[in-house]
Amino acid sequence: MPEQPADGPAPVPPARVGVLGGGRMGAGIAQSFAAAGSEVLVVESGEEEARAALDRIGASLRRAEERGKLAGAADEVLGRISAAGSPDALPRDACLVVEAVPEDAGLKARVLAAAERAVGAETVLATNTSSLPVTEIASALGSPGRFVGMHFFNPVPASALVEIVLAPGTSDATREAVLGWTRALGKKDVVVRDSPGFASSRLGVALGLEAIRMVEEGVAGPEAIDDAMSLGYRHPMGPLRLTDLVGLDVRLAIAEHLHATLGERFAPPRLLREKVARGELGRKSGQGFHTWT
Ligand SMILES: NC(=O)c1ccc[n+]([C@@H]2O[C@H](COP(=O)([O-])OP(=O)(O)OC[C@H]3O[C@@H](n4cnc5c(N)ncnc54)[C@H](O)[C@@H]3O)[C@@H](O)[C@H]2O)c1
Repeated sequence: MPEQPADGPAPVPPARVGVLGGGRMGAGIAQSFAAAGSEVLVVESGEEEARAALDRIGASLRRAEERGKLAGAADEVLGRISAAGSPDALPRDACLVVEAVPEDAGLKARVLAAAERAVGAETVLATNTSSLPVTEIASALGSPGRFVGMHFFNPVPASALVEIVLAPGTSDATREAVLGWTRALGKKDVVVRDSPGFASSRLGVALGLEAIRMVEEGVAGPEAIDDAMSLGYRHPMGPLRLTDLVGLDVRLAIAEHLHATLGERFAPPRLLREKVARGELGRKSGQGFHTWT
């Protein structure tokens, strides 16, 4: 990936953006584009869900404003965001539609196909999937050349990275457009070929699974293993604490997918399966490899 020119023209955010799904990720994606100056429509599964998504985004913007993390005023940014209960409301001249509905290939294909019918031929369509094959989702679309993976990280407004996932059919124009918009958000891109786990999940899960196997083998306890990576290798947090934050059930599902596609080195450890079966899911349940209060 060539370095971005330091003195090139300032990247321009997309004028109009649609976001499909206004949950944890969709709300963050909507907030980030609106803060950069885009007009954003969030599409939820119904009118009530749409109102709830708008409330979540408003609360998040006000928190960001209070903490001095927002360039503009929260109300001004919120004024650029609206929400609807159906993809029919998407503007035909949207530059970009990003899908962030739950991790279900069939559901993603359905909502993207509905969005494709609602927007014009120039609109770029993107998925925020963290593990599903982008190429497979693209096959549900009439024009896969305008389709690409834009893998945002949680929490979106604070994260520095977008992983751009190219399917074999992704056109050069689509690639260039999403690279420019990523820069307009103030984020850095990494470009990867569509492959299981992309770059981020594949490496992150490999480290997490090995850490779990080390606990299983009695090499060291979770605290020591996390300290080894955070203090010794300057990772912002250790692999087991990160597994707790992501959710052990989520990590197990991704490991199962990588095991099926990439082989034995991603076989989920027994301890991970046992903890998930016991409901020890990490921070969200209060107990994972660490205890959360
Ligand atoms: N949570 C993370 O850390 C993370 C990180 C990177 C990528 N992702 C990916 O982002 C996607 C969304 O994850 P999330 O954590 O935001 O999930 P979430 O459950 O918080 O949000 C999903 C939203 O989609 C809505 N939805 C469901 N069906 C819909 C439909 N037919 N039309 C419109 N909206 C619909 C739901 O009401 C919900 O608000 C998933 O593909 C996930 O793998 C998640």
